[in-house]
Amino acid sequence: MKLTILGGGGFRVPLVYGALLADRGEGRVTRVVLHDLDAGRMSAVARVLAEQAADVPDAPEVSVTTDLDEAVRGADFVFSAIRVGGLAGRAADERVALAEGVLGQETVGAGGIAYGLRTVPVAVDIARRVARLAPDAWVINFTNPAGLVTEAMSRTLGDRVIGICDSPVGLGRRVARALGADAGADTFVDYVGLNHLGWVRGLRVDGRDELPRLLADRALLGSFEEGRLFGADWLQSLGAIPNEYLHYYYFNRETVRAYQDAELTRGAFLHRQQDRFYARAGNPGVSALKAWDETRAEREATYMSENRDTAGAGEREEEDLSGGYEKVALALMRAVARDERTTLILNVPNRGTVAALDADAVVEVPCTVDAHGARPVAVGPLPAHATGLVVSVKAVEREVLAAAASGSRATAVKAFALHPLVDSVNVARRLVDGYRAAHPQLAYLG
Ligand code: G6P
Ligand code: MN
Repeated sequence: MKLTILGGGGFRVPLVYGALLADRGEGRVTRVVLHDLDAGRMSAVARVLAEQAADVPDAPEVSVTTDLDEAVRGADFVFSAIRVGGLAGRAADERVALAEGVLGQETVGAGGIAYGLRTVPVAVDIARRVARLAPDAWVINFTNPAGLVTEAMSRTLGDRVIGICDSPVGLGRRVARALGADAGADTFVDYVGLNHLGWVRGLRVDGRDELPRLLADRALLGSFEEGRLFGADWLQSLGAIPNEYLHYYYFNRETVRAYQDAELTRGAFLHRQQDRFYARAGNPGVSALKAWDETRAEREATYMSENRDTAGAGEREEEDLSGGYEKVALALMRAVARDERTTLILNVPNRGTVAALDADAVVEVPCTVDAHGARPVAVGPLPAHATGLVVSVKAVEREVLAAAASGSRATAVKAFALHPLVDSVNVARRLVDGYRAAHPQLAYLG
């Protein structure tokens, strides 16, 4: 079975390969093709993979190419994990937004819109090539902003593209752990929303909802990451546990201020960190795997550190450090390739799951997965506060898709201006100008 990884020079590729190495089952991936525009980064990552595979018998064979069509042709699975504009682009997304006093996070607010505007045209091109060269392939989209990018690709690929994110999985795991839910029990996480904009509304263990017990217990609420980030009072008011990315909405003023005051924004920090890693990993005198592992540990320890600082939430827990990014991808691939029916929280077309959204809107919900793909599990209605945010943000995503298709500057302005975290149409206009000046990929906005 052939797996193609787009963005094959990306930093998290060794996580995926590590999961493949651990998979000894029938029908596993035997060939991995990395594709990247940057051959240097890709060969550094290939060195890490070679070290990972050193002592593993029958390790999946790895090849690299900078030719997209060659990479895609005949693939059974395509992981798309690209970053248009690189981490320098992410840092520019943050800088332009923060200069206007609004959030520049890579997936939330102005930063997410800018990132979406330059990623959607590339993602659509990939989708068209896959449809032509590997029509039976399943595409697993990792590329952020994941919900929006999955929706863009689904217009060409239909249900053959499935978006993934590890944050709902991590949240479900932490809630279950706080409740002492037995790992062997039948646990269902009632999670619903859009990518990076969802809520756990219930946790059914052997059919009984245990979430009320968590919400009633302030000590338990203080015992896990989201509990500390949002605080027991706010979680009790909401009656649900939000995805960590909702911290940017509920505590917007504080998170914007923390990002403005930070010595380096997240994108700038990672940019510097990864430049060092790729330089080190290209040096034949050092272990690329060791360099990667040290860099990964630092990245994980500092994840959302500004948010945790503003909330006084302290350090991340040891067991939360590895989010499970690769595990979701592998679980999805196995369920599809081997027809092993399972339930995973994924980004798929709504099809009536969330009543306030149309059928094609990509949502993030629990899905039943098997050889036929992923189908959303019916969920109860969203509370009004969640409906409000989800509908607003989906409307913004639709404007981003429309702007990417038409090249209309006015539509791009509309996307920024309608976002709940952008507080003036004038700010939106300046953001479009600022982002156009910062990103050559946005020259298409006339
Ligand atoms: C979480 C998010 C991902 C994001 C990752 C890394 O897992 O769900 O979408 O890519 O964190 O974030 P970082 O800030 O380290 O790039
Ligand atoms: Mn994510």
